Amino acid sequence: MTAIRRRQPGNDGGDFLGIHSVNHFVMAVPDLHEAERFHTAFGLDVVDHRAGYAVRTDGSDHDWGYFVEGGRKQLQHLSFGVFEQDLQRFKHHLESLGIKLLAPPKGFESNGLWFRDQDGNLIELVVTSKTSPDFKAHGGHVSTPPGIVGAPLRSKAAKVRPTRLAHILIFTRDIQKAIDFYVGALGMGLSDRSGDNIAFMHGRHGSDHHMLAFVRSSAPGLHHTSWDVPLIDQVGQGATQMADKGFVRGWGLGRHVLGSNFFHYVRDPWGSYAEYSCDIDYIPVDMDWQSQDHDPEDSFYMWGPTPPEDFARNYEAE
Ligand SMILES: [Fe+2]
Repeated sequence: MTAIRRRQPGNDGGDFLGIHSVNHFVMAVPDLHEAERFHTAFGLDVVDHRAGYAVRTDGSDHDWGYFVEGGRKQLQHLSFGVFEQDLQRFKHHLESLGIKLLAPPKGFESNGLWFRDQDGNLIELVVTSKTSPDFKAHGGHVSTPPGIVGAPLRSKAAKVRPTRLAHILIFTRDIQKAIDFYVGALGMGLSDRSGDNIAFMHGRHGSDHHMLAFVRSSAPGLHHTSWDVPLIDQVGQGATQMADKGFVRGWGLGRHVLGSNFFHYVRDPWGSYAEYSCDIDYIPVDMDWQSQDHDPEDSFYMWGPTPPEDFARNYEAE
């Protein structure tokens, strides 16, 4: 990873206190073998873990997510990375807010801080290196000069392998309460929202336009995990890669308005999605981003096919 950057002292004269990265997520799924088949086809590395398996990305030994066997699909916990000098400050901060600290869950024992968010989601803050990017990646499309063939033969095309976890979108009962909690307790920034339907949050030590986002539902749950690929071409190629393995349901190719990323979502066997994402907007460490409240028509996508009818359905609420 690149050198650690952190936000400079603010008007209050002290170092800004905020999480810097999404460290990992943990999902329970009904069938680990089928989940492993899905994630391997998606282009992730699957590594044994005592509780199930971990997923890694191309060239990284970071465990971005863990999958464990459960009776049904269920988000188990979210872990966020903090700087070493901030862990004790966070402990005092959380206690000052009346947030009760908890013991770690079985299989994920750590010296981090464990507590529940406003929806009851289990959250960990733990000291990690900063895995959210320090700079906007130069993604997009590479064109070839005249006389040179641009597309590889399909049989020779390299497998699409995401380079990092980009963001996570979770369901929440109340958008405003979610914003208030993640700004107030975790020091995140609101990037953009659309009324009480959806909100996008960034890390204030420099991150993508969103590393975490919320969409309104009757219960908590995971909507999608998003994985960065360097080229738009790989977004489309990833969709074909998944369809070739039988994972044909999804949505894309399209482009979002809020975050600007190109996307293709592939539906997993339990109704959540894994997103190939390319060229998302970036909010630098030294920028005070002005969030806006957007019309619903701008909150979803700029162009692309019509999304599946159940795209925003929360299968963890049923
Ligand atoms: Fe996304």
